[in-house]
Amino acid sequence: MTIEATRDAGALGAYVSGVDLSAPLDDASFEELHSLFLTHHVLCFRDQGSLTPEEQLAFAARWGPIAVHPYVSSIEGYPAIMEVYDPHPITVAWHQDTTHMKAPPRMTMLLARRVPDYGGDTMFANQHLAYEELSVGMQRLLEGLSAVHKGTELATKEKGLSIPEVSALHPVVRRHPETGRPALYVNADYTKHFEDMNEEESLPLLEYLYAACSRPRYTWRHHWRVGDLLMWDNASVQHCVVDDVQKGQRSLHRVVIEGIAPI
Ligand SMILES: [Fe+2]
Repeated sequence: MTIEATRDAGALGAYVSGVDLSAPLDDASFEELHSLFLTHHVLCFRDQGSLTPEEQLAFAARWGPIAVHPYVSSIEGYPAIMEVYDPHPITVAWHQDTTHMKAPPRMTMLLARRVPDYGGDTMFANQHLAYEELSVGMQRLLEGLSAVHKGTELATKEKGLSIPEVSALHPVVRRHPETGRPALYVNADYTKHFEDMNEEESLPLLEYLYAACSRPRYTWRHHWRVGDLLMWDNASVQHCVVDDVQKGQRSLHRVVIEGIAPI
């Protein structure tokens, strides 16, 4: 089989064929997928619905240690697989995953087990482009800033975690851990304020950046089919679900790979 990638939007996102994800990946195939991942930022493998949870986890583990969500429960019998279902306020806003962690996940993988007839697409936005198209003056300003990210009320009120356990300080512009390319790194779910500034002072610039990070020309919109296995790079991409599911339910099995503290 020959691995082939078909780009689906100008900014990011490709469909990959010619690889059997249920079998152990040889090193050459893995390196090819790795290179495609760095190039396209989001990869989708179609028709993977026959993968067992064990096979999904084995494929994920090829990319690094699997992380368990700090406060959302997993599916029964598989602590490392979480179920993503109907759109929720957290998933509807543009975000990188769980940036309230000191070392947020490097990448996220979703396997579509059930999808509605229509609605519930996932959108992705390239944060390298979002940064690179800012003015030089704005880039210079942001390079000197860090921001405080905090977890949701679910973490603190329902699960009893302390604020420090679900808070982190991250640079507003991060370097990609493998390519070194800069990317915008603030999001509407978890970023609360800039370091040494209060929320009121931070909000106008944060709101500008939230609008700037998701301009249509930076995005790709993925329409789910059952069996899609989709993976994205949290160091270069934000994502959100379109909350237009009117009938039916989504069930996506989510696995994340550990990351490092952003620099
Ligand atoms: Fe997410």
